[in-house]
Amino acid sequence: MAAATFLSRFSVFAIVFSLAHLSGFSLAGDPFVSYIFDVSYITASPLGVPQQVIAINGKFPGPVINATTNFNVDVNVFNHLDEPLLLTWNGIEMRRNSWEDGVLGTNCAIPRNWNFTYSFQLKDQIGSFFYFPSLNFQRASGGFGPLIINNREMIPIPFHKPDGEISFMIGDWYTQNHTALRSILDSGKELGMPDGVLINGKGPFKYNSSVPDGIEYETINVDPGKTYRIRVHNVGISTSLNFRIQNHKLLLAETEGRYTAQTNFTDFDIHVGQSYSFLVTMDQNASSDYYIVASARFVNETVWQRVTGVGILHYSNSKGSASGPLPVPSTDVSHPWSVMNQQRAIKQNTSASGARPNPQGSYHYGQINITSTYFLRSMPPTMINGSLRATINGISFLNPNTPMRLADRHKVKGVYKLDFPNKPLENRPPRLDRSIINGTYKGFMQIIFQNNDTKVQSFHIDGYSFYVVAMDFGIWTEDKKGSYNNWDAISRSTVEVYPGAWTAVLMSLDNVGVWNIRVENLDRWYLGQETYIRIINPEENGKTEMSQPGNALYCGALASLQKEQQHSSATSIVNGQLNLIFSLMMVLLALVSIG
Ligand SMILES: *[C@@H]1O[C@H](CO)[C@@H](O)[C@H](O)[C@H]1NC(C)=O
Ligand SMILES: *[C@@H]1O[C@H](CO)[C@@H](O)[C@H](O)[C@H]1NC(C)=O
Ligand SMILES: *[C@@H]1O[C@H](CO)[C@@H](O)[C@H](O)[C@H]1NC(C)=O
Ligand SMILES: *[C@@H]1O[C@H](CO)[C@@H](O)[C@H](O)[C@H]1NC(C)=O
Ligand SMILES: *[C@@H]1O[C@H](CO)[C@@H](O)[C@H](O)[C@H]1NC(C)=O
Ligand SMILES: *[C@@H]1O[C@H](CO)[C@@H](O)[C@H](O)[C@H]1NC(C)=O
Ligand SMILES: *[C@@H]1O[C@H](CO)[C@@H](O)[C@H](O)[C@H]1NC(C)=O
Ligand SMILES: *[C@@H]1O[C@H](CO)[C@@H](O)[C@H](O)[C@H]1NC(C)=O
Ligand SMILES: *[C@@H]1O[C@H](CO)[C@@H](O)[C@H](O)[C@H]1NC(C)=O
Ligand SMILES: *[C@@H]1O[C@H](CO)[C@@H](O)[C@H](O)[C@H]1NC(C)=O
Ligand SMILES: *[C@@H]1O[C@H](CO)[C@@H](O)[C@H](O)[C@H]1NC(C)=O
Ligand SMILES: *[C@@H]1O[C@H](CO)[C@@H](O)[C@H](O)[C@H]1NC(C)=O
Repeated sequence: MAAATFLSRFSVFAIVFSLAHLSGFSLAGDPFVSYIFDVSYITASPLGVPQQVIAINGKFPGPVINATTNFNVDVNVFNHLDEPLLLTWNGIEMRRNSWEDGVLGTNCAIPRNWNFTYSFQLKDQIGSFFYFPSLNFQRASGGFGPLIINNREMIPIPFHKPDGEISFMIGDWYTQNHTALRSILDSGKELGMPDGVLINGKGPFKYNSSVPDGIEYETINVDPGKTYRIRVHNVGISTSLNFRIQNHKLLLAETEGRYTAQTNFTDFDIHVGQSYSFLVTMDQNASSDYYIVASARFVNETVWQRVTGVGILHYSNSKGSASGPLPVPSTDVSHPWSVMNQQRAIKQNTSASGARPNPQGSYHYGQINITSTYFLRSMPPTMINGSLRATINGISFLNPNTPMRLADRHKVKGVYKLDFPNKPLENRPPRLDRSIINGTYKGFMQIIFQNNDTKVQSFHIDGYSFYVVAMDFGIWTEDKKGSYNNWDAISRSTVEVYPGAWTAVLMSLDNVGVWNIRVENLDRWYLGQETYIRIINPEENGKTEMSQPGNALYCGALASLQKEQQHSSATSIVNGQLNLIFSLMMVLLALVSIG
């Protein structure tokens, strides 16, 4: 216990300094932040039932990674779970650097009791993102946390500097842990209704007698008249959530790295894997506290009432606790058109600067010719070779034993195939395969996500953001191109696709590497609904892609290249702390000598 306290106190703070040349990891002359993440189980009872959750430095959710455009980030991850671990960075573009992406197709898993230092630069990005464990359904037990990229000083943000910032990690939750949930899926069953919705790792406020006593709920303390930037991430398993704060407007300001045209909403649908920033002004009279609600969407909301997440917004001059019924969403999911209209209303602010001084609208994506089209159709899970699997274009993905780019570099053949079909093959039965998309470097790809499953799905592409040019019900056809938003579509990395509907996105293939394309709904992802896209500069000149990092782990066909690691976890953590202290001392010494 003492060791854990020492660790969390110590490693939550990060070292930031511009004397990057002092560090061996530095990728450029930009500042860097460095974190130590000790990933382990702790016992928590978010819904009143004790269970093992995945904590980082003893915290659930994990600590915020707070950095600025162009910063170099080091995260030294110690795996103290009882199974392999990878952390992935949802929405981070990892320019030229799929080596640090943290998914099984490009990285060997960190074995238990081992550590691995992710080391990457946040290129040309701003905004709100999050990290989570990508293997074995672990996200269902926690291990997630916010990742913020601030604007550089010189680049204006398109609103007044907020008086404060608050992150919300919202998500559906089961009282069974990820191994138990995995075995339900392995046995061919669906997970069924979750046991609750958590807000920042906490259960619901007792808003009426249906909520059991003694549940710890989230309270957000605010001052009247102030405006806060609220970042909300759906880190759940598979449930779309409607987020709202009683009596308060949510002014949408940013979506996964793009400033939006600012628009007021009373409530907002946030699908699994999505991130948003809202500006919220504390303009109410504080006659009482206010409810913060995250409720299930696109389900029978009457039945799902009991899994509603409820927190409390508490003004410093509040005159009493919140009471009465919860506020309800402004749109009714029985009118799916009206619901889709909210998502269609998300437009980029074309005159705002993003990560660079030039306006976001200066990249005229609508004038670029499409060089290839992939029509990706997801179907409800089906039996393949005796087990329940989920597919895209009839393929249920099998992860290669050797990560793909590592296999390329070490000339291991036959690990994967570049033959992912560009549309469903109607006459071929669904199959398991290691098939990925052959992307053309510098091409301009159109991807149509067509959802033939029965639930809302969100699709995500690692290493990229894409323009969401249209979505509609029915089946996509070529003539739908006429309806595309070619001017101010939002660019993001996770987009929802309604059941029986399609979403069209455009993407410039400028980031070399091998990148995961997945459904963010964990149950379908676990059953194989993912693939990768490989984008390689045919003239391999050593500049368009970073070289394999020195600490890359080896596995699969290359396992024999892996050196043994110190297994004594305690020793390695203490060494980590000593290294931190040492680097701090070096900085102080350098400052003293400069001074
Ligand atoms: C997960 O739950 C199963 C079944 O309840 C239990 O046997 C197992 O120990 C739990 N695992 C962890 C890591 O808590
Ligand atoms: C992140 O760091 C910036 C300064 O670099 C600070 O203004 C901001 O409050 C920090 N945000 C969080 C959430 O820690
Ligand atoms: C493991 O942590 C130690 C510090 O404790 C660090 O020196 C080493 O580079 C880390 N290993 C990897 C593979 O990143
Ligand atoms: C709890 O509140 C919800 C509405 O917010 C209502 O539907 C439900 O009937 C209430 N339950 C009880 C036991 O009062
Ligand atoms: C949003 O709502 C707030 C509070 O009602 C109002 O002051 C503000 O002008 C609105 N902003 C926009 C862009 O509509
Ligand atoms: C505070 O606002 C609420 C809701 O807008 C209103 O019902 C109430 O009368 C107001 N109270 C005071 C003291 O102004
Ligand atoms: C939701 O479930 C309730 C209770 O089972 C049922 O009465 C109602 O018809 C359902 N609503 C819809 C829209 O299916
Ligand atoms: C767009 O950004 C500019 C700053 O460049 C800002 O002045 C303007 O209010 C923003 N427009 C909207 C609709 O959010
Ligand atoms: C796009 O395609 C059209 C018609 O095929 C062609 O005329 C035009 O030059 C192309 N534009 C670019 C920028 O390649
Ligand atoms: C089923 O498994 C067998 C043996 O592992 C394999 O040869 C076959 O290709 C698999 N079938 C499908 C549809 O993937
Ligand atoms: C992948 O696409 C490139 C063109 O971008 C082509 O030259 C190459 O032959 C393709 N590879 C395979 C295996 O289809
Ligand atoms: C799935 O496809 C079938 C056959 O094309 C169609 O009848 C059905 O309505 C579709 N379902 C959804 C949810 O898209």
